[in-house]
Amino acid sequence: MSILFEPIKIKDVELRNRFVRSATYDGCADRTGQVSEGQISIFAELADGGVGLIVTGIAYVHQSGQNLPFQNSIASDDCIPGLKRLTTAVHDRRAKIAVQLFHAGREGARFLKGKNEQAIAPSFVSNDPYFTEQYRPMTEDEIWDMIRAFGDAAKRARDAQFDAVQLHGAHAFLLSQFLSPFTNQRDDHWGGTLEKRLRFHRKIYRDIRSKVGEDYLVLIKIGVQDGFPGGLAFSEGNLAAQLLAQWGFDSLEISQGLRGKPYEGTEFRTKINSLDREGYFRHWCKQIKSQVDVPVMMVGGLRTFELMEEVIQKGEADYISLSRPLIREPGIINEWKRGDCHRATCISCNKCLEALRKGEALHCIQQKIQENS
Ligand SMILES: Cc1cc2nc3c(=O)[nH]c(=O)nc-3n(C[C@H](O)[C@H](O)[C@H](O)COP(=O)(O)O)c2cc1C
Repeated sequence: MSILFEPIKIKDVELRNRFVRSATYDGCADRTGQVSEGQISIFAELADGGVGLIVTGIAYVHQSGQNLPFQNSIASDDCIPGLKRLTTAVHDRRAKIAVQLFHAGREGARFLKGKNEQAIAPSFVSNDPYFTEQYRPMTEDEIWDMIRAFGDAAKRARDAQFDAVQLHGAHAFLLSQFLSPFTNQRDDHWGGTLEKRLRFHRKIYRDIRSKVGEDYLVLIKIGVQDGFPGGLAFSEGNLAAQLLAQWGFDSLEISQGLRGKPYEGTEFRTKINSLDREGYFRHWCKQIKSQVDVPVMMVGGLRTFELMEEVIQKGEADYISLSRPLIREPGIINEWKRGDCHRATCISCNKCLEALRKGEALHCIQQKIQENS
């Protein structure tokens, strides 16, 4: 049997294999952020398809952190019963599930404008060529409110029987904005040196631990380099990853921070049509893995089974994390397990993303075209 299918533990939680469904917004929550029947079907299909751990899409921990209309909320206790139905559907199918705790920061500006609210961020960046929406810097009180909001959300996650929480610390959202020297220009104890720019992460981690206990899995997806010059450099992102591991995060998923040009400067690279285009964060992941004692997840353009096997065999990562391939083929993990190790048929066209942005529910456009032809 392939090493990819050996059961493996993160702390005391055993996963049936090394495959993680990387967090994927599905546009299927209702307008109040509650879990829908459609979501239960998506998660049940993924769990039936053999994946070991499913990370939900972005779930906002506070109303000010929402950036899309059909996003799940974990900001209030009335979300717990719906979330529990989701975890039950996954557990009944022997998979594990983590919820991704999220705050958009300034990336919520367009969505909040529609509600006559202003988005918040560590600081306001003037003459920013990458971001032109309106937003304002957070006050000290707001920073502490958001820290507590993450902790409270983690407590709800535990009550709803998620096996883990994963902090979204990548892709230009609030935690990325604190970490990047480009978006964090504060001159108080939340900005400046790397340690100060990571203080928000550290306080959130401590608040979560105080509310969920030492045994619970607290994971993080961390953006270790920004997608443009002048942003977070890998030398700092690498150190940040090491600090997070030292503080006690139970696993790191290695991705990108602030976004550069669509799509090549973002986490969603396209044209993954040859082996050398695959695993586009492999170099970062491999280096970080060699420096930390906690399990590491590799994400970003992994499509070929043999390559994934090589990554694990060479000790470059502990888990293989996939998003787009599982949108097109939710059952691919079981197909691989049965010996049909075909390359994922996802062509990384990102049409799934574009449809989501128009308000459609998550689906593979290519699959639909094929079915209709
Ligand atoms: C439709 C779609 C939705 C996504 N939603 C999220 C999300 O909610 N949270 C997150 O951290 N990443 C999100 N991502 C990024 C993926 O988790 C992953 O990091 C990225 O797509 C690269 O992996 P892949 O090549 O396997 O797709 C999303 C990606 C896609 C395509």
